[in-house]
Amino acid sequence: MIVLGIETSCDETGVALYDNARGLLSHALHSQIEMHREYGGVVPELASRDHIRRIAPLIRRALSEADCTLNAIDAIAYTQGPGLAGALLVGASVGAALGFALNIPAIGIHHLEGHLLSPLLSTPAPQFPFIALLVSGGHTQLMRVDGVGQYQLLGETVDDAAGEAFDKTAKLLGLGYPGGAALSILAERGRPGRFKLPSPMLHSGDFNFSFSGLKTAVLTLIHQQPEDPQTYADIAWAFQNAVITVLTGKALAALAESGLSQLVVAGGVGANKQLRCQLTEKTEAAGATVFYPQLEFCTDNGAMIALAGALRLQAAYGDQVEFARGFTVRARWNLAQDPENAPCVPIKPE
Ligand code: KG4
Ligand code: ZN
Repeated sequence: MIVLGIETSCDETGVALYDNARGLLSHALHSQIEMHREYGGVVPELASRDHIRRIAPLIRRALSEADCTLNAIDAIAYTQGPGLAGALLVGASVGAALGFALNIPAIGIHHLEGHLLSPLLSTPAPQFPFIALLVSGGHTQLMRVDGVGQYQLLGETVDDAAGEAFDKTAKLLGLGYPGGAALSILAERGRPGRFKLPSPMLHSGDFNFSFSGLKTAVLTLIHQQPEDPQTYADIAWAFQNAVITVLTGKALAALAESGLSQLVVAGGVGANKQLRCQLTEKTEAAGATVFYPQLEFCTDNGAMIALAGALRLQAAYGDQVEFARGFTVRARWNLAQDPENAPCVPIKPE
Protein backbone atom coordinates (compact mmCIF):
# COMPACT_ATOMS: atom_id res chain seq x y z
CA MET A 1 0.00 0.00 0.00
CA ILE A 2 1.46 3.37 -1.05
CA VAL A 3 0.52 6.37 1.09
CA LEU A 4 1.08 10.00 0.13
CA GLY A 5 1.85 12.01 3.29
CA ILE A 6 1.25 15.76 3.52
CA GLU A 7 2.48 17.99 6.37
CA THR A 8 1.52 21.67 6.57
CA SER A 9 0.92 22.31 10.28
CA CYS A 10 3.39 25.14 10.72
CA ASP A 11 6.31 26.45 8.66
CA GLU A 12 7.40 23.41 6.67
CA THR A 13 5.61 22.01 3.64
CA GLY A 14 6.44 18.31 3.59
CA VAL A 15 5.35 15.63 1.15
CA ALA A 16 6.39 11.96 1.05
CA LEU A 17 5.50 8.57 -0.36
CA TYR A 18 5.63 5.57 1.95
CA ASP A 19 5.03 1.96 0.94
CA ASN A 20 4.21 -0.62 3.62
CA ALA A 21 6.23 -3.19 1.72
CA ARG A 22 9.22 -1.13 0.59
CA GLY A 23 9.44 1.66 3.19
CA LEU A 24 10.00 5.32 2.36
CA LEU A 25 10.01 5.87 -1.41
CA SER A 26 10.68 9.61 -1.51
CA HIS A 27 10.21 12.82 0.41
CA ALA A 28 10.28 16.48 -0.51
CA LEU A 29 10.36 19.46 1.84
CA HIS A 30 10.25 23.22 1.72
CA SER A 31 11.14 25.12 4.87
CA GLN A 32 9.74 28.64 5.32
CA ILE A 33 12.32 29.59 7.94
CA GLU A 34 14.00 32.19 5.72
CA MET A 35 10.65 33.85 4.97
CA HIS A 36 9.67 34.16 8.64
CA ARG A 37 13.13 35.08 9.92
CA GLU A 38 12.77 38.83 9.38
CA TYR A 39 9.64 38.80 11.59
CA GLY A 40 11.37 36.87 14.39
CA GLY A 41 8.72 34.13 14.34
CA VAL A 42 6.13 32.36 12.20
CA VAL A 43 3.55 34.69 10.59
CA PRO A 44 0.48 32.43 10.20
CA GLU A 45 -1.02 34.13 7.13
CA LEU A 46 2.30 34.08 5.27
CA ALA A 47 2.72 30.43 6.25
CA SER A 48 -0.67 29.45 4.75
CA ARG A 49 -0.02 31.33 1.51
CA ASP A 50 3.38 29.73 1.12
CA HIS A 51 1.99 26.23 1.69
CA ILE A 52 -0.48 26.92 -1.14
CA ARG A 53 2.38 27.93 -3.43
CA ARG A 54 4.60 24.96 -2.58
CA ILE A 55 2.35 21.99 -2.17
CA ALA A 56 1.59 20.99 -5.78
CA PRO A 57 5.22 21.24 -6.99
CA LEU A 58 6.36 19.24 -3.95
CA ILE A 59 3.81 16.49 -4.65
CA ARG A 60 5.04 16.35 -8.25
CA ARG A 61 8.65 16.14 -7.05
CA ALA A 62 7.95 13.37 -4.54
CA LEU A 63 6.09 11.38 -7.23
CA SER A 64 8.86 11.83 -9.76
CA GLU A 65 11.62 10.91 -7.27
CA ALA A 66 9.74 7.73 -6.39
CA ASP A 67 9.08 7.06 -10.07
CA CYS A 68 5.42 6.81 -9.13
CA THR A 69 2.19 8.15 -10.64
CA LEU A 70 -0.82 9.60 -8.85
CA ASN A 71 -2.84 6.56 -9.87
CA ALA A 72 -0.46 4.24 -8.03
CA ILE A 73 -1.26 5.86 -4.66
CA ASP A 74 -3.58 3.84 -2.41
CA ALA A 75 -4.29 6.44 0.28
CA ILE A 76 -3.46 9.95 1.45
CA ALA A 77 -2.51 11.02 4.98
CA TYR A 78 -2.45 14.69 5.93
CA THR A 79 -1.72 16.45 9.21
CA GLN A 80 -5.09 17.26 10.72
CA GLY A 81 -3.73 19.04 13.82
CA PRO A 82 -2.54 20.45 16.08
CA GLY A 83 -1.04 23.50 14.42
CA LEU A 84 -1.94 26.76 12.70
CA ALA A 85 -5.53 26.44 11.46
CA GLY A 86 -4.94 28.17 8.12
CA ALA A 87 -1.77 26.21 7.44
CA LEU A 88 -3.47 22.91 8.36
CA LEU A 89 -6.35 23.71 6.02
CA VAL A 90 -4.01 23.81 3.02
CA GLY A 91 -2.76 20.25 3.52
CA ALA A 92 -6.18 18.97 4.59
CA SER A 93 -8.02 20.43 1.61
CA VAL A 94 -5.39 19.31 -0.91
CA GLY A 95 -5.33 15.83 0.66
CA ALA A 96 -9.11 15.51 0.77
CA ALA A 97 -9.54 16.87 -2.78
CA LEU A 98 -6.90 14.51 -4.19
CA GLY A 99 -8.51 11.62 -2.34
CA PHE A 100 -11.86 12.53 -3.85
CA ALA A 101 -10.44 12.89 -7.35
CA LEU A 102 -8.53 9.61 -7.18
CA ASN A 103 -11.31 7.79 -5.34
CA ILE A 104 -8.99 6.74 -2.51
CA PRO A 105 -9.16 7.42 1.26
CA ALA A 106 -7.70 10.62 2.69
CA ILE A 107 -7.17 10.44 6.43
CA GLY A 108 -6.19 12.97 9.10
CA ILE A 109 -3.13 12.33 11.26
CA HIS A 110 -2.11 13.87 14.58
CA HIS A 111 1.15 15.78 14.08
CA LEU A 112 2.67 14.42 17.30
CA GLU A 113 1.78 10.87 16.34
CA GLY A 114 3.87 11.48 13.23
CA HIS A 115 6.79 12.70 15.36
CA LEU A 116 6.66 9.86 17.85
CA LEU A 117 6.49 7.18 15.17
CA SER A 118 9.25 8.82 13.09
CA PRO A 119 12.10 6.66 14.52
CA LEU A 120 10.32 3.71 12.86
CA LEU A 121 11.63 5.12 9.57
CA SER A 122 15.17 4.18 10.67
CA THR A 123 16.95 0.85 10.93
CA PRO A 124 17.09 -0.66 13.48
CA ALA A 125 13.62 0.48 14.44
CA PRO A 126 12.21 0.32 17.98
CA GLN A 127 9.58 -2.31 18.79
CA PHE A 128 6.41 -1.55 20.75
CA PRO A 129 6.11 -0.88 23.65
CA PHE A 130 8.48 2.05 24.22
CA ILE A 131 8.76 5.37 26.03
CA ALA A 132 8.74 8.42 23.75
CA LEU A 133 10.28 11.76 24.62
CA LEU A 134 8.68 14.32 22.31
CA VAL A 135 10.61 17.56 22.25
CA SER A 136 9.49 20.02 19.61
CA GLY A 137 8.91 23.75 19.28
CA GLY A 138 5.33 23.40 20.50
CA HIS A 139 5.38 20.34 22.78
CA THR A 140 7.41 18.58 25.42
CA GLN A 141 5.87 15.28 26.47
CA LEU A 142 6.78 11.88 27.81
CA MET A 143 4.52 9.12 26.53
CA ARG A 144 4.18 5.42 26.89
CA VAL A 145 3.55 3.94 23.45
CA ASP A 146 2.09 0.42 23.38
CA GLY A 147 1.18 0.34 19.71
CA VAL A 148 -0.21 2.47 16.89
CA GLY A 149 -2.93 4.60 18.49
CA GLN A 150 -2.09 3.45 22.02
CA TYR A 151 -0.53 6.46 23.68
CA GLN A 152 -0.47 7.21 27.40
CA LEU A 153 0.66 10.66 28.45
CA LEU A 154 3.07 10.37 31.40
CA GLY A 155 3.92 14.05 31.72
CA GLU A 156 4.37 17.28 29.80
CA THR A 157 5.54 20.84 30.14
CA VAL A 158 3.45 23.11 32.31
CA ASP A 159 4.62 26.20 30.39
CA ASP A 160 7.12 26.61 27.52
CA ALA A 161 8.08 23.68 25.31
CA ALA A 162 11.77 22.75 25.20
CA GLY A 163 12.16 24.07 21.64
CA GLU A 164 10.32 27.26 22.56
CA ALA A 165 12.74 27.73 25.49
CA PHE A 166 15.69 27.23 23.12
CA ASP A 167 14.22 29.74 20.67
CA LYS A 168 13.42 32.40 23.32
CA THR A 169 16.82 32.04 24.98
CA ALA A 170 18.54 32.21 21.60
CA LYS A 171 16.73 35.49 20.98
CA LEU A 172 18.00 36.86 24.32
CA LEU A 173 21.52 35.91 23.23
CA GLY A 174 21.10 37.80 19.97
CA LEU A 175 20.78 34.70 17.77
CA GLY A 176 18.29 34.58 14.91
CA TYR A 177 15.01 32.69 14.61
CA PRO A 178 14.52 29.80 15.16
CA GLY A 179 17.48 29.77 17.50
CA GLY A 180 17.65 26.17 18.81
CA ALA A 181 20.30 24.95 16.40
CA ALA A 182 22.24 28.26 16.56
CA LEU A 183 22.24 28.17 20.37
CA SER A 184 23.61 24.63 20.40
CA ILE A 185 26.44 25.70 18.05
CA LEU A 186 27.25 28.66 20.31
CA ALA A 187 27.19 26.33 23.34
CA GLU A 188 29.96 24.23 21.78
CA ARG A 189 32.32 27.14 22.50
CA GLY A 190 30.96 27.54 26.03
CA ARG A 191 33.02 26.65 29.09
CA PRO A 192 31.30 24.16 31.39
CA GLY A 193 30.82 25.27 34.96
CA ARG A 194 31.23 29.05 34.69
CA PHE A 195 27.51 29.57 35.20
CA LYS A 196 25.12 27.25 36.97
CA LEU A 197 21.46 27.42 36.01
CA PRO A 198 18.74 25.43 37.80
CA SER A 199 17.34 22.26 36.21
CA PRO A 200 13.65 22.98 36.81
CA MET A 201 11.43 20.25 38.24
CA LEU A 202 14.20 17.66 38.04
CA HIS A 203 13.16 16.27 41.43
CA SER A 204 9.43 17.05 41.23
CA GLY A 205 8.59 13.36 41.48
CA ASP A 206 6.45 13.40 38.34
CA PHE A 207 7.09 13.51 34.60
CA ASN A 208 6.20 17.16 34.07
CA PHE A 209 8.57 19.87 32.87
CA SER A 210 8.85 23.64 33.20
CA PHE A 211 11.17 25.77 31.10
CA SER A 212 9.92 29.35 31.32
CA GLY A 213 11.88 30.11 34.53
CA LEU A 214 15.14 29.16 32.82
CA LYS A 215 14.67 31.84 30.22
CA THR A 216 14.17 34.41 33.01
CA ALA A 217 17.32 33.13 34.77
CA VAL A 218 19.23 33.63 31.51
CA LEU A 219 17.87 37.17 31.18
CA THR A 220 19.06 37.98 34.72
CA LEU A 221 22.53 36.58 33.92
CA ILE A 222 22.74 38.60 30.72
CA HIS A 223 21.98 41.79 32.66
CA GLN A 224 24.63 40.98 35.28
CA GLN A 225 27.42 39.97 32.93
CA PRO A 226 29.55 41.85 30.40
CA GLU A 227 28.32 41.58 26.81
CA ASP A 228 31.18 39.56 25.33
CA PRO A 229 31.09 36.53 23.02
CA GLN A 230 32.71 34.11 25.49
CA THR A 231 30.22 35.04 28.22
CA TYR A 232 27.32 34.44 25.83
CA ALA A 233 28.78 31.08 24.82
CA ASP A 234 29.18 30.15 28.51
CA ILE A 235 25.55 31.13 29.18
CA ALA A 236 24.41 29.08 26.15
CA TRP A 237 26.30 26.07 27.53
CA ALA A 238 24.72 26.49 30.98
CA PHE A 239 21.22 26.84 29.50
CA GLN A 240 21.57 23.83 27.21
CA ASN A 241 23.03 21.77 30.02
CA ALA A 242 20.12 22.62 32.33
CA VAL A 243 17.53 21.60 29.70
CA ILE A 244 19.38 18.40 28.82
CA THR A 245 19.78 17.43 32.49
CA VAL A 246 16.00 17.62 33.03
CA LEU A 247 15.05 15.89 29.77
CA THR A 248 17.55 13.08 30.39
CA GLY A 249 16.64 12.70 34.07
CA LYS A 250 12.90 12.45 33.41
CA ALA A 251 13.23 10.18 30.38
CA LEU A 252 15.34 7.75 32.42
CA ALA A 253 12.93 7.91 35.33
CA ALA A 254 10.06 7.07 32.94
CA LEU A 255 12.02 4.08 31.61
CA ALA A 256 12.75 2.89 35.14
CA GLU A 257 9.17 3.30 36.36
CA SER A 258 7.65 1.59 33.33
CA GLY A 259 10.14 -1.24 33.29
CA LEU A 260 10.54 -0.72 29.53
CA SER A 261 13.94 -0.80 27.87
CA GLN A 262 13.47 1.33 24.74
CA LEU A 263 13.40 5.09 24.54
CA VAL A 264 12.41 6.98 21.41
CA VAL A 265 13.31 10.64 21.02
CA ALA A 266 11.44 12.76 18.48
CA GLY A 267 10.80 16.37 17.53
CA GLY A 268 13.11 19.23 16.54
CA VAL A 269 15.09 19.36 19.81
CA GLY A 270 15.91 15.69 19.24
CA ALA A 271 18.40 16.99 16.66
CA ASN A 272 20.49 18.47 19.51
CA LYS A 273 23.90 16.78 19.54
CA GLN A 274 24.57 17.15 23.25
CA LEU A 275 21.11 15.82 24.12
CA ARG A 276 21.80 12.79 21.94
CA CYS A 277 25.22 12.24 23.56
CA GLN A 278 23.91 12.38 27.11
CA LEU A 279 20.78 10.35 26.43
CA THR A 280 22.74 7.65 24.63
CA GLU A 281 25.33 7.43 27.40
CA LYS A 282 22.80 7.35 30.23
CA THR A 283 20.29 4.98 28.63
CA GLU A 284 23.07 2.55 27.74
CA ALA A 285 24.39 2.73 31.31
CA ALA A 286 20.87 1.85 32.46
CA GLY A 287 20.80 -1.19 30.15
CA ALA A 288 18.28 0.39 27.77
CA THR A 289 18.42 1.49 24.13
CA VAL A 290 17.61 4.89 22.68
CA PHE A 291 16.30 5.42 19.13
CA TYR A 292 16.37 8.69 17.20
CA PRO A 293 14.85 9.65 13.89
CA GLN A 294 17.36 10.53 11.17
CA LEU A 295 18.29 14.19 11.59
CA GLU A 296 16.19 15.26 8.59
CA PHE A 297 13.09 13.65 10.16
CA CYS A 298 13.53 15.29 13.58
CA THR A 299 11.93 18.52 12.44
CA ASP A 300 8.59 18.63 10.60
CA ASN A 301 8.37 16.52 7.44
CA GLY A 302 5.94 14.59 5.26
CA ALA A 303 7.64 11.19 5.76
CA MET A 304 6.46 10.83 9.36
CA ILE A 305 2.86 11.64 8.31
CA ALA A 306 2.95 9.15 5.43
CA LEU A 307 4.34 6.51 7.80
CA ALA A 308 1.75 7.20 10.53
CA GLY A 309 -1.01 7.08 7.89
CA ALA A 310 0.23 3.78 6.50
CA LEU A 311 0.46 2.23 9.98
CA ARG A 312 -2.98 3.54 10.98
CA LEU A 313 -4.60 2.26 7.82
CA GLN A 314 -2.91 -1.09 8.02
CA ALA A 315 -3.90 -1.51 11.68
CA ALA A 316 -7.53 -0.67 10.82
CA TYR A 317 -7.99 -2.39 7.48
CA GLY A 318 -5.00 -4.47 6.45
CA ASP A 319 -4.44 -3.83 2.77
CA GLN A 320 -8.13 -3.19 1.99
CA VAL A 321 -8.35 0.50 2.87
CA GLU A 322 -11.76 2.12 3.11
CA PHE A 323 -13.02 5.54 2.15
CA ALA A 324 -13.16 8.88 3.90
CA ARG A 325 -15.08 11.92 2.73
CA GLY A 326 -14.97 15.49 3.99
CA PHE A 327 -12.36 16.87 6.34
CA THR A 328 -11.78 19.03 9.38
CA VAL A 329 -8.68 20.42 11.02
CA ARG A 330 -8.02 20.66 14.76
CA ALA A 331 -5.74 23.53 15.72
CA ARG A 332 -5.75 22.19 19.31
CA TRP A 333 -5.80 18.46 19.77
CA ASN A 334 -4.65 16.27 22.63
CA LEU A 335 -3.17 13.02 21.35
CA ALA A 336 -3.32 10.92 24.51
CA GLN A 337 -6.38 12.22 26.35
CA ASP A 338 -8.85 12.76 23.57
CA PRO A 339 -11.43 9.94 23.67
CA GLU A 340 -11.95 10.59 19.96
CA ASN A 341 -8.34 9.80 19.28
CA ALA A 342 -9.28 8.00 16.13
CA PRO A 343 -8.07 10.61 13.75
CA CYS A 344 -8.15 8.52 10.72
CA VAL A 345 -10.53 5.67 10.94
CA PRO A 346 -12.04 6.55 7.58
CA ILE A 347 -15.78 7.02 7.17
CA LYS A 348 -17.55 4.87 4.62
CA PRO A 349 -19.47 6.83 1.98
CA GLU A 350 -23.28 6.65 2.05
O1 KG4 B 1 9.49 19.49 15.63
P1 KG4 B 1 9.74 20.85 15.10
O2 KG4 B 1 10.22 20.98 13.70
O3 KG4 B 1 8.48 21.76 15.15
C1 KG4 B 1 7.38 21.62 15.94
O4 KG4 B 1 6.55 20.73 15.65
O5 KG4 B 1 7.32 22.40 16.90
O6 KG4 B 1 10.77 21.52 16.12
C2 KG4 B 1 11.26 22.81 15.95
C3 KG4 B 1 12.02 23.19 17.21
C4 KG4 B 1 12.43 24.65 17.23
O7 KG4 B 1 12.07 25.18 18.48
C5 KG4 B 1 13.95 24.58 17.06
O8 KG4 B 1 14.64 25.65 17.66
C6 KG4 B 1 14.28 23.28 17.74
O9 KG4 B 1 13.22 22.41 17.35
N1 KG4 B 1 15.57 22.74 17.31
C7 KG4 B 1 16.63 22.57 18.16
C8 KG4 B 1 17.69 22.06 17.36
N2 KG4 B 1 17.26 21.95 16.07
C9 KG4 B 1 15.94 22.36 16.06
N3 KG4 B 1 16.74 22.78 19.46
C10 KG4 B 1 17.93 22.49 20.04
N4 KG4 B 1 19.00 22.03 19.37
C11 KG4 B 1 18.93 21.79 18.03
N5 KG4 B 1 20.00 21.32 17.38
ZN1 ZN C 1 6.58 19.18 14.71
